[in-house]
Amino acid sequence: MGMQSTGVILLSMMMMAGTQGAMAAVSVTKSDFGKLKDGQSAELYTLKDADLEVKITNYGARIVAIGCKDQNGKMGDVALGYNSVSGYENEADKKTYFGAVVGRYGNRIRNGKFSIDGHQYTVPANNNGNALHGGPHGFDEKLWIAKQLPDGVEFTLVSPDGDQGFPGKLTAHVRYTLVGDALHINYSATTDKPTVVNLTNHTYFNLSGDGQGDILGEELQLNADQYTPVDKGLIPVGGPKPVAGTPFDFRKMTPIGQRINDKNEQLQIAGGYDHNWVLNGGAGQMKVAAKLYDPKSGRELTVSTTEPGVQFYSGNFLDGSYAGKAGAKYQKHAGLCLETQHYPDSPNQSQFPTTELKAGQTMHSETIFAFSTKK
Ligand code: BGC
Repeated sequence: MGMQSTGVILLSMMMMAGTQGAMAAVSVTKSDFGKLKDGQSAELYTLKDADLEVKITNYGARIVAIGCKDQNGKMGDVALGYNSVSGYENEADKKTYFGAVVGRYGNRIRNGKFSIDGHQYTVPANNNGNALHGGPHGFDEKLWIAKQLPDGVEFTLVSPDGDQGFPGKLTAHVRYTLVGDALHINYSATTDKPTVVNLTNHTYFNLSGDGQGDILGEELQLNADQYTPVDKGLIPVGGPKPVAGTPFDFRKMTPIGQRINDKNEQLQIAGGYDHNWVLNGGAGQMKVAAKLYDPKSGRELTVSTTEPGVQFYSGNFLDGSYAGKAGAKYQKHAGLCLETQHYPDSPNQSQFPTTELKAGQTMHSETIFAFSTKK
């Protein structure tokens, strides 16, 4: 081997080591996040590297804040939420699920009924006659057990057999890690009896900044040729349909507000966007699901996932009831969610990718939120 190629190899090894070194420069610190009404204390973990500062509490394994740079290098918080755990606990009748891991079944199940292997199960119908987000006291309200990692934090929750009506003792792990400009979320779960699982993260993003008005001027791209139209209870009916020629076509970057008030039955049912898009690429495969760009700040979020769908929810039910971290009341469209997940009502729609988990199986899923800027 000549000197030159040895030099090139050495240099590239040094560059790799340098890259790994930079990526490993994550600090993780723990602080107090206040007390719940029952006296238990909540914790806050701050994950920080050169690009991101992410705050996560063990109450609902929630993302509380995401600090990232704008086009001028200025840090800003792009996630909606509260300053202490009581803000989250005080949301009574109008739960927003800010930043939460929703489970054990994120999204809706028709009439709260489903069957597995001939056994019928009924779970609480907490949303217009349907089950939503794992029931009235889902994973978003639980204090998860936290384990600090060199580059992040891992949360564990054991949900007993019969929790919110769901069968099987489910052990769920959610691991948040920082890798450069990206926050990785790794989910896994096991059960001791057949059950259904659909875990997602319910962060509301506003790339202009928390409390900085609405998201209607932000531009969205969704990697999906199809979506699942819904009935009045927001349950998919009639299977996936092409987005082509509808306000649901986000195959090209499009301002969210451009068509949100169109005379379209699906938009009217949901008061905006609150639908599942069928991602091109399929379940289990890591692919880009969405890109969100804010022309005001130059910030861009790229969402990648192994999940088969994404629920794009344009914050339609925010109504100014609650004021957040920045003191501003969260009005309609103050933030938007990109909930990577299986399709709603999968337990009752056998043509959808399955959400069943059997004893002895492990459910794995990964979603990546990467932040960058462009002018
Ligand atoms: C649902 C909305 C619901 C919201 C609750 C979203 O995932 O799709 O319909 O109102 O969560 O914050």
